[in-house]
Amino acid sequence: MNYQPSADRYKNMQYRRCGKSGIKLPAVSLGLWHNFGHVDVAENFRKILHLAFDSGITHFDLANNYGPPPGSAEENFGRLLHEDFHGYRDELIISTKAGYYMWEGPYGEWGSKKYLVSSLDQSLKRMRLEYVDIFYHHRPDPDTPLEETMSALDLIVRQGKALYAGISNYPADEADKAIAILKRLGTPCLIHQPKYSMFERWVEGGLLDVLEKDGVGCIPFSPLAQGLLTNKYLHGIPEDSRAAKSTGFLQENQVTEGRVHQAKQLNKIAEHRGQTLAQMALAWLLKDQRVTSVLIGASRPEQLADSLKCLDNIEFSPEELAKIEDILK
Ligand SMILES: NC(=O)c1ccc[n+]([C@@H]2O[C@H](COP(=O)([O-])OP(=O)(O)OC[C@H]3O[C@@H](n4cnc5c(N)ncnc54)[C@H](OP(=O)(O)O)[C@@H]3O)[C@@H](O)[C@H]2O)c1
Repeated sequence: MNYQPSADRYKNMQYRRCGKSGIKLPAVSLGLWHNFGHVDVAENFRKILHLAFDSGITHFDLANNYGPPPGSAEENFGRLLHEDFHGYRDELIISTKAGYYMWEGPYGEWGSKKYLVSSLDQSLKRMRLEYVDIFYHHRPDPDTPLEETMSALDLIVRQGKALYAGISNYPADEADKAIAILKRLGTPCLIHQPKYSMFERWVEGGLLDVLEKDGVGCIPFSPLAQGLLTNKYLHGIPEDSRAAKSTGFLQENQVTEGRVHQAKQLNKIAEHRGQTLAQMALAWLLKDQRVTSVLIGASRPEQLADSLKCLDNIEFSPEELAKIEDILK
């Protein structure tokens, strides 16, 4: 298939400045954690990528370990970049990460300079890229000095293997320290990637304030709580869902009665707003200007099309917000 990107691709997307940097990100970005591995159907994820780019999504998020098997999402993405997006590299913001287990021995996970540099070299090979746009440290490492991990990010940027540095899953105080070290080294932290959704609100307890103070962007991951904040589980666990799949990270026991009850109540508010639950859950995050972009996943193009329509209405009345708070209590 010869893919020709839509000429209208920049018409309907909104772009937001990432902290105080020069980079703007699409309000909706696409993550390749699930659905892009060797266990998945290539024709399906190819269609998802085409729709994303045609809709103005310029930012694609990966990590060394995405698959399964680990590394295969980067391999598949690299192949499609090569086959379908050749000539469009300068329109794309591609990120990858290292932090979780990737290979045997003492250098295959966490936050040493040895691990981060080697892992990014492997990622670049798998994606057939000369550089990524953003390289993240994926999770804090309790044992490696923060100075070493941040100086590895600084080195990687200076080597031109990544244009920007980011951190993920860092609590507020550690994030503040990491951001200060990067600033001192001369490689400002571009972005933080935390888990944030209506069902996971820890970032409101300090992290968002730190990021605003330090001029760092915020890209919430799993903004749909892996599907719990969609209409997917309102009437049981469908066979084709992440919770039902053996390779999915959402466990059946996370689809609790309590969560389903909340989702049903939230769904009523969404219907009243003329939105699907997924659209409302994303709009609810984007109402906060400190949120640069929501980092969604999709297992089929229809889901992506649905989620993208969140941009039609990201305003909430005080009454709607109060009702939502009441449900989430
Ligand atoms: N930094 C980190 O530690 C970290 C951790 C996790 C994720 N991430 C990043 O965040 C990205 C997104 O994470 P996520 O996939 O958990 O995000 P999510 O958007 O919360 O969940 C995506 C899942 O929700 C369902 N879904 C999506 N849109 C839907 C719609 N409109 N209607 C009904 N169901 C819908 C699909 O589930 P089904 O498959 O059941 O259809 C889809 O696979 C990842 O790809 C990755 O890039 C980062």
